[in-house]
Amino acid sequence: MSESNIALVEVLSKTTWTPNLFSFTVSRPDSFKFTAGQFVRLGVNPSKLRYHLEAGNNAPDEDIFRAYSIVSSPFDEVLEFFSIVIPDGAFTSELQHLQVGDTLLLNTTPFGFLTLARYQKPLPKDLWLLATGTGLAPFLSMLQDLQTWQDYEHIILAYSARSKDELAYLDKIQTLQEDFGSLVDNPAKLIFIPIVTREKMAGALHARLPTLLLNGDLAKAAGVELDTDSAHIMLCGNPEMVEDTKETLKSMGFVMNRRGEGNIAVENYW
Ligand SMILES: Cc1cc2nc3c(=O)[nH]c(=O)nc-3n(C[C@H](O)[C@H](O)[C@H](O)COP(=O)(O)OP(=O)(O)OC[C@H]3O[C@@H](n4cnc5c(N)ncnc54)[C@H](O)[C@@H]3O)c2cc1C
Ligand SMILES: NC(=O)c1ccc[n+]([C@@H]2O[C@H](COP(=O)([O-])OP(=O)(O)OC[C@H]3O[C@@H](n4cnc5c(N)ncnc54)[C@H](OP(=O)(O)O)[C@@H]3O)[C@@H](O)[C@H]2O)c1
Repeated sequence: MSESNIALVEVLSKTTWTPNLFSFTVSRPDSFKFTAGQFVRLGVNPSKLRYHLEAGNNAPDEDIFRAYSIVSSPFDEVLEFFSIVIPDGAFTSELQHLQVGDTLLLNTTPFGFLTLARYQKPLPKDLWLLATGTGLAPFLSMLQDLQTWQDYEHIILAYSARSKDELAYLDKIQTLQEDFGSLVDNPAKLIFIPIVTREKMAGALHARLPTLLLNGDLAKAAGVELDTDSAHIMLCGNPEMVEDTKETLKSMGFVMNRRGEGNIAVENYW
């Protein structure tokens, strides 16, 4: 893909969740517009990072681009992103060294159809958002848009990570529950279901999403019936999770969303 419409953006903050997970905010170009759920192409030039400049290293002078979902809402003044670190990954092995004041490249064309606008009205009662790992990002953006809260009776966010320390944004999710819940006069509207698969965590489920769908544990934890007439379902993250969960949902009678109709919409991260 050629990189046109490139803007320089400045890193404004960085939050480290674990050695392999971090978030950061960058300045938002005035003209840049997007819809909650979309992604952009972010670029890093290793030779321009302070980390390399201060170490006097000859890091490669090349622009490396990758797709990143936007965490922040379309109404925010800054853009926020949530990133994995893949130790030998061309992009994230560099991006992990980001410091406040560093500069990144942003292709200001937003991409992607994992947006709520893809669903035709009339909308069903419930919205199920199922994420693994950094696949949480587009759902956080949607959950900061009041329209999402006004459009559905229940919003169920299920977020699966290997270990409890890899569940990021827990405070933010609680704040969203409280703040938007009170704006729509329903503090119980957002039902959050953490899932931790490789260790036990109090209050979290402990199996993969397809298992939890088939055995009914996800619906039971949500306290909401999951049926084909009442649910829009979005999947984001690990492509194997997306495939396995999609097939499981199809076996339960759900259908892919096409031309606005149907339950399931998906986005694969690799
Ligand atoms: C539409 C879309 C949106 C994306 N949004 C995000 C995002 O918001 N945050 C983010 O961290 N990544 C996101 N990605 C993945 C991102 O584009 C890069 O793949 C990632 O930054 C790793 O780049 P890399 O060059 O270091 O490794 P790559 O060479 O790109 O990937 C190497 C391997 O790392 C694994 N991997 C890649 N990305 C992830 C990930 N996010 N979580 C777990 N394992 C991964 C896969 O096994 C992959 O084959 C998105 C990808 C797509 C297609
Ligand atoms: N070395 C480490 O300690 C370490 C730790 C974390 C990540 N990583 C690296 O980071 C990358 C990905 O890590 P990640 O944790 O973000 O993503 P991940 O492997 O996709 O795991 C995130 C969540 O997705 C679940 N999942 C994976 N495949 C699934 C499927 N087919 N169906 C349903 N759920 C599924 C995982 O469950 P399961 O636990 O059952 O797989 C886990 O709960 C990998 O390249 C990995 O090597 C390394």
